[in-house]
Amino acid sequence: MDGFDTATGGFLQWGAGACLIRRARSAKTRFMASLRFHRALHALDAERAHHAAIAALGRWGALGAPFAGAMPRLPTRVAGIDFPNPVGLAAGLDKDARAVAGLFALGFGAVEVGTLTPLPQPGNPKPRLFRLAEDRAVINRMGFNNGGQAAGIARAAAADRRGGVLGINVGANNDAADRVADYVAGVAAAAPVADYVTINVSSPNTPGLRDLQEGPALADLLARCAAAKSATPLFLKVAPDLTPAQIDGIARAAIDRGVDALIVGNTTISRPPLASRHAGEIGGLSGAPLRSLAAERLRDFRVATGGAVPLVAVGGIDSGVEAYARLRAGASLVQVYSALVYEGPGLARRIVHELAALMARDGATSVSEVVGR
Ligand SMILES: Cc1cc2nc3c(=O)[nH]c(=O)nc-3n(C[C@H](O)[C@H](O)[C@H](O)COP(=O)(O)O)c2cc1C
Repeated sequence: MDGFDTATGGFLQWGAGACLIRRARSAKTRFMASLRFHRALHALDAERAHHAAIAALGRWGALGAPFAGAMPRLPTRVAGIDFPNPVGLAAGLDKDARAVAGLFALGFGAVEVGTLTPLPQPGNPKPRLFRLAEDRAVINRMGFNNGGQAAGIARAAAADRRGGVLGINVGANNDAADRVADYVAGVAAAAPVADYVTINVSSPNTPGLRDLQEGPALADLLARCAAAKSATPLFLKVAPDLTPAQIDGIARAAIDRGVDALIVGNTTISRPPLASRHAGEIGGLSGAPLRSLAAERLRDFRVATGGAVPLVAVGGIDSGVEAYARLRAGASLVQVYSALVYEGPGLARRIVHELAALMARDGATSVSEVVGR
C-alpha cells in the first residue's frame, strides 16, 4: 500500500490513538488525546491518513487489541446471522481485510471488508479521495482499488472476529469481459469464509456498473450468484440514486430471487449544496450531506419490499439518535463509514451506548422490537 510506511513511521496512529484515548484516566485527558491524534491524522492527505489508520488498527488487532474495553450487548438476528449489536462498518474502509480484528475491537457488531475483485487492480489515478470537512462529508472515486480476492479472502479467513459478523463485499474488475462472471467468482470464493457476502452493484466509480441494478441484468446476476453462494446469506448493495420504478424493480427481484438483505445504500452522485472547496470533485459523496437521501431511500425500500427483505441502512449515520431513527424506519442493521473520519475510533462504541440508552428510555428490550416501529 503506498503511503503506508511514510504515513505510519513514528506517527501517532489510529489504533494507538484509540488505545491511548481509552487509557487516559479523565474525560479531559481522553478528549485532549483524541484531539491531538485527530489533528495529526487530518494533517495528512486523505488517502495517506486512511492507510495510516488501517495499518495502526491492523497492528493493534495483531497485538490482541489491548485496552479495547467491553461493549454493551445489543444482540439481534438478521438473515439467520447472530449479530452482537446492530452497528456495522460499511465496505470500503478495509478493502483488503488488513485490520479486521482491530475494527471489531472498536465495537462494531459487523465488519464488511472489500470491495474485492477477482484480480488485483490499482483503481483510479490519485488524487481520488477528498475530505469535505466543512460538510462532514467525503467524495471518493477510488475505483475498486484492491489487492484481489485471493489475498483478501485469505486474510479475512485468518482474522480474529472477536464474536462479530464478517461480511465480504465483492465486485467486478474494471476491464472484466463478463462482469456477472466476476461476481459469481467472488461469491463462490467468499462464501466459505464470510458470514454473509455482499454483491456491490452500486459503486459510481466503475463505469456502467450500476446498470446491473436493472431489469433482466439484475435478475440474471442474482440467479447466478444465488447458485454460487451455497448456504451463506447473500446481501445486495444498491445506490441511493434510483427512480421509483428502479426501486420497485430491485425490490421485486430481491424478493423473487431470495436476497437475504438489501444494503441501502452506497455513495451518491447527486450534489446537495456543499460548502467545501472539493465540492466539484467527481465521485461518490458520503457523510452528512447524504443523510436525508439515504433515509428517504430506506423508507422507499421498506414500502417497496413490504418488510419481506431485511434492510441495512447506510449513509450519513453518525450518532445513536440517527441509528435509532433508521431502525425505526425499517432497517434491521446500520453501517457507518464517513463519520469515522470526523468522529474517530470511538464512534461505534458511542453509537451502541446511545442506542442502548434510547431503547431503555422507550422500554424496548430487543433491537428487533424497534425495527419499523
Ligand atoms: C473512501 C470510500 C470508499 C468506499 N469504498 C466502497 C467499496 O469498496 N465498496 C462499497 O460497497 N462501498 C464503498 N463505499 C461506500 C460506503 O460503504 C458507504 O456505503 C457510503 O460511504 C455511505 O455511508 P457513510 O455516509 O456512512 O460514509 C466507500 C465509501 C468511501 C467514503
